[in-house]
Amino acid sequence: MEIVETFREARALRRGTVGFVPTLGFVHEGHLSLIERAALDNDMVLVSLFVNPLQFGPGEDFDAYPRQLERDAALISEAGAKVLFSPSLSEMYPEPALTQVEVPELAIHLDGVERPDHFRGVATIVTKFLAGLQPSRAYFGRKDGQQLAIIQRLVFDLSLPVEIEGCPTVREADGLALSSRNAYLSNVDKAEALALSSGLMAAADLAEAGERRAAALIEAVRDTALDTEFSYVTLMDRRTVHPLEVLTEDAFLAVAARVGPARLIDNIHIDVAGDAIKVDRGVRLDRPSVLYAT
Ligand code: PAJ
Repeated sequence: MEIVETFREARALRRGTVGFVPTLGFVHEGHLSLIERAALDNDMVLVSLFVNPLQFGPGEDFDAYPRQLERDAALISEAGAKVLFSPSLSEMYPEPALTQVEVPELAIHLDGVERPDHFRGVATIVTKFLAGLQPSRAYFGRKDGQQLAIIQRLVFDLSLPVEIEGCPTVREADGLALSSRNAYLSNVDKAEALALSSGLMAAADLAEAGERRAAALIEAVRDTALDTEFSYVTLMDRRTVHPLEVLTEDAFLAVAARVGPARLIDNIHIDVAGDAIKVDRGVRLDRPSVLYAT
């Protein structure tokens, strides 16, 4: 795998179809699953690693975000990437970005409430990567359901010639969704954090048993996680990211909570067509995550 720091070098290494996986680094099996999937679909995989200041709000963890290029490069290469694009701040922003991309209608709810500028930062950097690297396909986790919706919409609205692929959430063996921010959690925090996925799985059971009302699904999450202080528990349309009263095709049940020092999010995707229901609960690891390897 080659590690490059400029758009020009990254573009020069493109061969055939290119699968692109953007990350903030401190990679785990969630990121690695996207790289493995991209390697199956494309001639080569290009991964970016950049802690994007535009998407962190004041007082958020931009400075504390774990930066471990050597560790990450080894894992990313092993998963099948051919090029790692790890730009400096000055390569990405030689001057302050005067052009910003936003999809405000999709950022009204969920994380847009507590993190008002976050999705503008994400949409701007992702657009910049897609324009500067010109991949054939780009891969994103369903774990960040609102982010995925926003990226799909901006690619559609701007007619960008790239296919966006949403991939299942990778979970620890006990159900906790993998996140680089899990590294901030103590063992006590991790036990508490389990409430998010347990709540979602209880709601998934209920939906599979025939429940279609948003209020009942939300109550199932809250009843399973009585001690958790949620920022939100909401059933949303996956395309509009607006609340639903009943399950439809293209829904996701999303939760966010502060646990110890971390703000965690999780969701399950649910599709209903007539009496048929499909819940994507994600996939579980059968071993401890690389996040905890020393
Ligand atoms: P980051 O949080 O590093 O995530 C990079 C990609 O990995 C995203 O598409 C995210 O949805 C996916 N991902 C994270 N945890 C996952 C899990 N447990 N299972 C499956 N996929 C998972 O998301 C970002 O970075 C940034 O906003 C970025 C898109 C790189 C723009 O800066």
